[in-house]
Amino acid sequence: MKEFVYQGPDTGPEQGAVHWEAPSNIALVKYWGKHGNQLPMNPSLSFTLDACHTRTRLEFFQSGGSMPVEVLLDGQPAPSFEPKIRQFLERALPFQPFLKGYGFRVHTHNSFPHSSGIASSASGMAALALCLMDLERLFAPGLSAGQFRRKASFLARLGSGSAARSVDGGLVLWGTHPGLEGSSDAYGVPYPEKVHPVFQDYHDTILLVDKGEKAVSSTVGHGLMDGHPFAGARFEQARQNLDRLGPVLAAGDLDGFVDLVESEALTLHAMMLSSSPSFILMKPGTLAILEKLRAFRKTSGHPVCFTLDAGANVHVLYPAASREAVYPFIQEALLEHCHQGHHICDRVGRGARRLAGAGS
Ligand code: DP6
Repeated sequence: MKEFVYQGPDTGPEQGAVHWEAPSNIALVKYWGKHGNQLPMNPSLSFTLDACHTRTRLEFFQSGGSMPVEVLLDGQPAPSFEPKIRQFLERALPFQPFLKGYGFRVHTHNSFPHSSGIASSASGMAALALCLMDLERLFAPGLSAGQFRRKASFLARLGSGSAARSVDGGLVLWGTHPGLEGSSDAYGVPYPEKVHPVFQDYHDTILLVDKGEKAVSSTVGHGLMDGHPFAGARFEQARQNLDRLGPVLAAGDLDGFVDLVESEALTLHAMMLSSSPSFILMKPGTLAILEKLRAFRKTSGHPVCFTLDAGANVHVLYPAASREAVYPFIQEALLEHCHQGHHICDRVGRGARRLAGAGS
């Protein structure tokens, strides 16, 4: 990790502000199980989203060396976020020692409701990591765009593993895997193999079945894989699924995509169902949606499928060409299982972007 230790000049700006937007992502091959300093037990692959994102404006000012932090969510003080952000800054410090001299005010806004059950840690940590890299660039302007994004993903990972996949756009790979050039446990990279155009504007309609807090935090969830009786087989299966996904993505094989993606989602939940203690994160509405969706796929022939993260919400994935058939079906048959009909129409996005108006 030496390449990520900042070694430039140690004088920087007295104060200023930087502003970034980073997207959420949805994993196709899931990350579930980690070791060491936020390193994954298996490689994972995700679609970068677009509508679901976090915007973070980081104000920094020179201070006595204790890194004071204040967090504002939608303009309101949000002290409950501060420990997580302070922990993130502490983890970034060995790689950006200049942070020590600053105090921070973090203004953050999620495009999706905070209580929606959609994790904001991926987009939130990625947006903050990109802000820290912008600050680094003020010390040492010579960074290439590639170095900037790689280190941003590396830092984001220290905040939340899946955040490593929220810097680049399209399909993003995180985790070393033989045969996938440039892959790394330390940061996410754009998926390096051929991808059929059908996957470039894939749709993801997110069905908000349950808006409550997650019953199992991801940290606890990853921990449940330590000593899990099926852990070794699961990590191996994820690697095999990544290999099997290669030709599927290259050829635009939508039936193959459906099989693999649903199997990954159900296996993630199977790991929780069979851990000790065990967790049931699907709700009756989740199961009703999965069954209706499979029946619709069979009768309509549209290659629509589901994936899940560590919660009850369902991501409905389909190619843009199927939208006119799939979205009315979602409205008529699936929204009744959502909390007050809530859902988010999202699609594959282009990755994080710097926002104007940082001021100084
Ligand atoms: C089920 O990235 O939230 O969404 O590294 O502890 O912050 P931490 O975990 P997190 O785990 C995400 C797990 C998942 C699958 C995935 O996104 O790959």
